[in-house]
Amino acid sequence: MAEEKNMLDDIQRELFTKEELAAIVSRMGREISWDYRGKNLLMVSVLKGSVVFMADLMRAVTEPLSIDFMVVSSYGKGVKTSGVVKIVLDLNIPLEEYDLLIVEDILDSGKTLSYLMEVLRARGPKSVKICTLFDKPERREAQVTPDYVGARIPDAFIVGYGLDYAGKYRNLPFVGVLKPEVYA
Ligand code: IMP
Ligand code: MG
Repeated sequence: MAEEKNMLDDIQRELFTKEELAAIVSRMGREISWDYRGKNLLMVSVLKGSVVFMADLMRAVTEPLSIDFMVVSSYGKGVKTSGVVKIVLDLNIPLEEYDLLIVEDILDSGKTLSYLMEVLRARGPKSVKICTLFDKPERREAQVTPDYVGARIPDAFIVGYGLDYAGKYRNLPFVGVLKPEVYA
């Protein structure tokens, strides 16, 4: 029988517990609810990384809203962005009536979001803002400033709560730092 593999063996340390994540999301939900009073909020989740965050965040917002999803790919299997962003699944509604809030798991080089902002702004929505659960400001290469940030983190590769390495670890309920030997 093959030796059983435990996801937890690949985690160096826990960075945010389930409870800490819940507190962050609830704080962000309150801010967004306040800022979007009387607006026509469309939360756009950038899949797949933001799926867990999106599901929690939308329930922490008390104003009426719509949701939609986009799939963009830039990473492949590595831990660094390739810089080439591709829209794999696009929104298929006119955006003129909406106040867009892009929901991302993590802002790293910024290449993904700067490209996405350009594409979405060109479609003439009332407004576009960025909400990211995590931000690694040290690693920024493109000019992007998030409007809502859950937590700033140092330069380490993290997984869990939707964030993956090579498609795995998204189902961890907490966020942890991946052991470097896993992707070395
Ligand atoms: P950027 O274009 O470099 O800002 O890339 C952002 C995307 O890279 C995120 O949406 C994630 O999918 C991925 N990413 C960046 N850093 C991490 C990390 O530490 N863990 C998991 N995914 C990451
Ligand atoms: Mg990813």
